Amino acid sequence: MGATLTATSNLSRTKAETGIRGVLWFLYPLCVFLIYKQALHAISYTAANDGGPLVVLAMAAAIGLPLTGLAIMHWSLPAAFAGYLTIVIPPLITATGGLIHVGTQGGYWTMLAVSVPVVVFGGGLAMSMSPGRVLLKAHRATALLLGVFVLAHLTNHLFALHSLAAHRAVQDALRVIYRNSIVEPLLVAVLIAQALSGVALAWRGRYRQGFLNHVQAASGLFITVFLCSHVTATLVSGRALSHTETDFLFASGGPAGLLHSRGAVTLIPYYFLASVAFFTHAGGAMRRNLLRKRSPLANRVNAGVFALGVAVSILILAALCGIGGLSRGI
Ligand code: HEM
Repeated sequence: MGATLTATSNLSRTKAETGIRGVLWFLYPLCVFLIYKQALHAISYTAANDGGPLVVLAMAAAIGLPLTGLAIMHWSLPAAFAGYLTIVIPPLITATGGLIHVGTQGGYWTMLAVSVPVVVFGGGLAMSMSPGRVLLKAHRATALLLGVFVLAHLTNHLFALHSLAAHRAVQDALRVIYRNSIVEPLLVAVLIAQALSGVALAWRGRYRQGFLNHVQAASGLFITVFLCSHVTATLVSGRALSHTETDFLFASGGPAGLLHSRGAVTLIPYYFLASVAFFTHAGGAMRRNLLRKRSPLANRVNAGVFALGVAVSILILAALCGIGGLSRGI
């Protein structure tokens, strides 16, 4: 009897300790958030005062900090949640800033902007009850269309390195395809389906093991939070509310580029990591597909797509910061 009582009290003490330790993990994203804000200030400061390598160093720090979330994910379930939260800090900051902006425009728009993340994250949680196979099929089916759009979209941004006129010419040609009354609503619907099924899969895999599986879920979650903010910024804030031309100048925060205002600097890790997350997620999906076919090339293809993603993202970031078309104003 005595032994049973001791065992029960030991068990409840262990549970309480585990609970406290679980909550403590969430101090990690909080600390990263506070240091991340300083890293953003450091980018603005160095860009205004020193320029050169120190700006690059500050940018690398701001980009690297959220990624440290990957290092804690394998510890436990609360640690995994805290890690995912750390990774999505850049789009969360931008999304909340965007919501405040939309909020000033009145209740109708606020409702619309708030409902996007609620539908995506609430709906994804509800859908996680569906069988995994159904979710996976929905996720794969929508991925292709979205992937084609994003590839064309990112290639379009590379043209800004040449000139704003070249970016505009490619964007105008692409808009004929994606900005008409059939494709655009379809694209938004596919986007929502992709995000819903992705969040549901991430939720179902909450006991996921292995670094690459965590990377796959983390990059998908980054893209989801990014898109909630990015599509609200372009379609709602930019086009519907401000009737602004949502071109490269809109994305770069004006002709001076992302380095020249405190607000715009927050978009540096946001855009860079979104583009890297897209390639990381696509590369991970290709790897799984090749592994299913027992191809020996699976890991090499994954690494190649990731490296291509980093290169493309650096070039787009350079263009957004003023290298190429922006600096020449043409
Ligand atoms: C990396 C830097 C990026 C920049 C500078 C950027 C910029 C823009 C701009 C300017 C628009 C408005 C397009 C137009 O009016 O025709 C836009 C729309 C959009 N972007 Fe991005 N984007 C970036 C990355 C991404 C990524 C990684 C994704 C997806 C994973 C994405 C998805 C979208 C979508 C879905 C739209 C809405 C298209 C529509 O229906 O009109 N973007 N973006």
